[in-house]
Amino acid sequence: MVNKITSLAEYFRKYQESVADPDGFWGNIAETHFWQKKWDQVLDWSFEGKDAPRVNWFVNGKLNITENIFERNMFMRKDQVAIIWEPNDPKDPEVKLTYGELFDKVKQFANALKKIGVEKGDRVAIYLPMIPELAIAMLACARIGAIHSIVFAGFSASALADRVIDAKAKVVITSDAGFRGNKTIPLKAIVDEALEKCPSVEHTIVYKHNGDDIKFKDNHDIWWHDLIKGVSSENTAEVMDAEDMLFILYTSGSTGKPKGVVHTTGGYMVYTEYTFKNVFQYNDGDIYWCTADIGWVTGHSYIVYGPLLTGATSVMFEGVPTWPDAGRFWDIVDKYKITHFYTAPTAIRALVAQGDQWVTGHDLSSLRVLGTVGEPINEEAWRWYHDVVGKGKCPIVDTWWQTETGGIMISPLAGITPTKPSLATLPLPGIQPVLVDPEGNELKGNAVEGILCIKYPWPGMLRTTYGDHQRCFQTYFSAFRGLYLTGDGAKRDEEGYYRIIGRIDDVINVSGHRIGTAEVEDAINQHPKVVESAVVGYPHEIKGSGIYAYVICEEMSDTDLANIENEIKATVTKFIGPIAKPDKIQIVSGLPKTRSGKIMRRILRKIGEGDATNLGDTSTLLDPHVVEEIIEGAKVEVKR
Ligand code: PRX
Repeated sequence: MVNKITSLAEYFRKYQESVADPDGFWGNIAETHFWQKKWDQVLDWSFEGKDAPRVNWFVNGKLNITENIFERNMFMRKDQVAIIWEPNDPKDPEVKLTYGELFDKVKQFANALKKIGVEKGDRVAIYLPMIPELAIAMLACARIGAIHSIVFAGFSASALADRVIDAKAKVVITSDAGFRGNKTIPLKAIVDEALEKCPSVEHTIVYKHNGDDIKFKDNHDIWWHDLIKGVSSENTAEVMDAEDMLFILYTSGSTGKPKGVVHTTGGYMVYTEYTFKNVFQYNDGDIYWCTADIGWVTGHSYIVYGPLLTGATSVMFEGVPTWPDAGRFWDIVDKYKITHFYTAPTAIRALVAQGDQWVTGHDLSSLRVLGTVGEPINEEAWRWYHDVVGKGKCPIVDTWWQTETGGIMISPLAGITPTKPSLATLPLPGIQPVLVDPEGNELKGNAVEGILCIKYPWPGMLRTTYGDHQRCFQTYFSAFRGLYLTGDGAKRDEEGYYRIIGRIDDVINVSGHRIGTAEVEDAINQHPKVVESAVVGYPHEIKGSGIYAYVICEEMSDTDLANIENEIKATVTKFIGPIAKPDKIQIVSGLPKTRSGKIMRRILRKIGEGDATNLGDTSTLLDPHVVEEIIEGAKVEVKR
């Protein structure tokens, strides 16, 4: 396979090349793609100045990413399976789509979108469960140059509405319902509720998935099957500029409002294909399965774009790891003879807790490469994954990256880079990580710990935050001059290997999902009895971090007090979704504040971690009694 590194010596050589001559390095890789018109310049950039960041890859290059998935692969792969879909319920039939079949469906749906007036540059919100139509819809958007904004189908109506409004989406694509284990989620009803607040939306396209009756609004709602009836699958791809937007994906940050991270066409294509091939060391004929949801960046880059650009067979699963039983993942590995398995540490920890017997009863001999993503993996989970799942013979790629980076940044190359448990190891070619102290001084050499930044552009990086370029600058490029700020802390060990420690900002990584504390606080504060709240993360055995909410309420009767916890959880579910529901809620009479009124979260974090003996400097506290009361209350909280 072209552009695939095959030895450690080659990795080091390529890395040196990529730093010495980034233009030459990425230009050569991009040559293997299909361009309608070649670029004039590989990279034009600046991380400083009034329009920063300015990052243009493959300047004036013209292409369509779907031509690189389909037309480019068609000669060899027309009859090769592109997507295997495994339904939620193992009793239901699976679906296999070859590259040829998927191509026809994408072109037909692309024409159908055009038929209802979707044009290049329009935003299309997609709120679908993990079904093949999700991949078809996103690729159809890319085919016609519409910008997809996929919203994870576990978000609430209110969170969906915020994202649809921000993107000014013209169309929403959903299904009547989705399944997760024994639960049915009424997606169309959630969309209806969201759209009460979204004037930009002209149509809702509804895929019939479970077949239950739903409310249907004539002229606005259109069934997917009606829309494609009689529509041809002849379609010529829209010619896109390399820097035309491909998609928006919303992610949480330190402030209340989620940011629309923008990825563009050319660089994202080159980067996801290159990283997929190299990190996973995928070979023709392998069966690759990433268990993420396409609603998150992992699914965008490593279920759809990276694998399909490479011409891989990619598995999509609608269900959950523990239903109908905790052997579900391993049933699927056995059923399709999966060779590459990529999941989140939280899923691994949940399965460790269920016991080895769920794994050992299955034939997992097809597995060759294991991967993790989304959060630090603790050593115990890593060892279990390595020994019990991989039987000691599969390398684990611990892949560090972010929604903003578009693709994997620091990771072993499977079977090539020697691994160490819990370490993401070395940067991929083209990635220049630096560690800095809080003043922005670079920490050189090995055996250092600091704030992880990146000092040179890479093709997959975000270009802006949708509708607010200044926010992109503020969030990622203003802290340290000339550096992209990741928001993570990291250690570089004696050998130059990276260990990602975790977020240094007010973002909690819950089961590998980024949740901004401010967003959760905003949601909690919507409860009429809540006066103020402060949210922090605390160590959670399965989720990595759990959400701990300290809440001040108005005076209440005992009955109200008994219900308040559940009501607060319901409020958060309503405004964000179940993923942001606090694991612990402690009702307090005050919060630790400085004299200037700032909440001292450091103290709340320590208490949440159960480490109240060492609160550090508390001399700036306005009212130290509040802290004592919270510590006492926390003891009760822990015992429950
Ligand atoms: O804190 C890091 C953590 O997840 C954050 C990015 O979250 P998100 O944009 O939702 O993307 C997740 C999937 C790419 C990072 O800032 N993170 C991601 N991968 C790892 C990780 N932490 C430690 N080790 C990893 N392998």
